[in-house]
Amino acid sequence: MGMTTSDDASVYKISEDLALVQTLDFFTPVLDDPYLYGQIAAANSLSDVYAMGGEPKLAMNIACFPKDLPKDIIRQILKGGRDKVKEANALVIGGHTVEDEEPKFGLSVTGFIHPKDVVTNCNAKAGDLLILTKPLGLGILNTGIKAGLVSEDGYNRAVSTMTQLNKFSKDAMMKVGVNSCTDVTGFGLLGHAFEMAEGSDVTIRFFSSSIPIIEEALSLARMGIIPAGAYRNMDHIKDHVKISDKAAQEVIDCMSDPQTSGGLLISVEKSKAEDLLNELKNSPTPYGLVGEVTERQDYRIIVE
Ligand code: CO
Ligand code: CO
Ligand code: CO
Repeated sequence: MGMTTSDDASVYKISEDLALVQTLDFFTPVLDDPYLYGQIAAANSLSDVYAMGGEPKLAMNIACFPKDLPKDIIRQILKGGRDKVKEANALVIGGHTVEDEEPKFGLSVTGFIHPKDVVTNCNAKAGDLLILTKPLGLGILNTGIKAGLVSEDGYNRAVSTMTQLNKFSKDAMMKVGVNSCTDVTGFGLLGHAFEMAEGSDVTIRFFSSSIPIIEEALSLARMGIIPAGAYRNMDHIKDHVKISDKAAQEVIDCMSDPQTSGGLLISVEKSKAEDLLNELKNSPTPYGLVGEVTERQDYRIIVE
């Protein structure tokens, strides 16, 4: 699997029972705390391997740091990354740094998977139910944090959500067996769902009142604290999305909000959905049954 299906990672089959999952991701700091930034960047990079159903094994740092950035800050960013990779039972085996005006950090990750177990983002089936494994609102909260508008509780919720590995959710979905999966990152829930719907040639219907969202993001959205990326995401797909009057605007804003290290969006056969929800019961993050998959309709996405 390569670049043609806009999936989360590429997969290269080595033998009948082993394939490599390869991915790379890096970005500029989302928070002022260098150790947390390192953890978030690593959790985000590892997530694309989990989204394919893979188990991360090896990681390499990719970093850009300004010449005058204190060595201790660099050490903390790299330590944050290393600690998350360790938590994922994988190893940091090297990397490369170049000088740049703005710091950037992330990982190239190699994971293992059995070729038959690969979960793509383009195999959702009509009749499936959709489960989201982390709450939305991270881009809005990060924007609010930069403006000093977020409470300590809101900050802590955003941080614990972004630093959380998608490993628990991945293990749950692999145990149950699911049809399709992607992780929710820069394009927001609607953008990544649109890719799943188009790739699978189905329509996805969301239940807007059942979407897990970090409470404080809703009040920030009502105040208009919404990152430009959320508008770009909506603009990109608006011709393919039908939004019912019943859906609250602040929920729609959170659904198009770009997520940093967001959760997995999983499409699971209806008969297995209860098993998956059971497996997720001890999830470290809020999760929810957020929608269903139907035969293709006039719109790729319907929000009710
Ligand atoms: Co992804
Ligand atoms: Co990615
Ligand atoms: Co080198």
